[in-house]
Amino acid sequence: MSTRQSSDPIMVIPQHVAIIMDGNGRWAEQRGLPRLAGHRAGTENLRKIIEECINLEIKYLTIYAFSTENWQRPPEEVSGLMALLENMLDRELKSLHKNGVRIRHLGHCAGVNKRLVQKISEAVELTSGNSSLVLNVAFNYGGRDEMVRAVKRIISDGLSSAEVTEELISNYLYTAGQPDPDLIIRTSGEYRISNFLVWQSAYSEWYFTPALWPDFNEKELHQALVFFGSRERRFGQVSAQIG
Ligand code: FPP
Repeated sequence: MSTRQSSDPIMVIPQHVAIIMDGNGRWAEQRGLPRLAGHRAGTENLRKIIEECINLEIKYLTIYAFSTENWQRPPEEVSGLMALLENMLDRELKSLHKNGVRIRHLGHCAGVNKRLVQKISEAVELTSGNSSLVLNVAFNYGGRDEMVRAVKRIISDGLSSAEVTEELISNYLYTAGQPDPDLIIRTSGEYRISNFLVWQSAYSEWYFTPALWPDFNEKELHQALVFFGSRERRFGQVSAQIG
């Protein structure tokens, strides 16, 4: 972790930031636009925030793009979100790759159309050697689903109960080998986890802001990092032990 002086007070730069990009629908409704216009604006905003994370030398950024529960939305919204991810990969992959972004997929591909599955796996493969920023795209992701899949694999790998440790479970999750998120941001004034990184968030700091995702700009991100800098992370210990 490092500290950064900017026009804002001191920011502390975490290793791993995760974001629940909420409020696209309300942003659109406030403008009398269809919900998909909000998701489109959210996608544009995502591009800016990724760039700022690279500038700030954040090493891991995890974004919640589509949950296992989002299939229950109206079919035109679901297909619109799929198309947005596909367009984003078509338009942005080259520049993400050039900027050293490594794309990882958190989630599974059941139910996702073959062409999109192919594009996701090409993006993951193309960028696998990059290291400036790991961009975890939680797509068709649910924290409980992730744990169920991990338990099933642990059983099918024939591991004994004595071998099951916290470290082993972490290594069976999509985020295996990565640090847990230090800071999780949720936009739009909602105070819920919504099945996001349920295991990994055990000791994350949470930052909630009323800003709707398309309005969550670089300045808002800086404010979240200032907030992060103000937190004392005790991980179950007491202040005197932290030093
Ligand atoms: C929550 O807002 C947002 C989502 C379910 C999707 C997030 C997706 C993006 C920001 C676009 C980038 C995505 C991809 C696929 C690259 P909401 O729709 O729940 O908003 P509301 O609570 O105001 O209705």
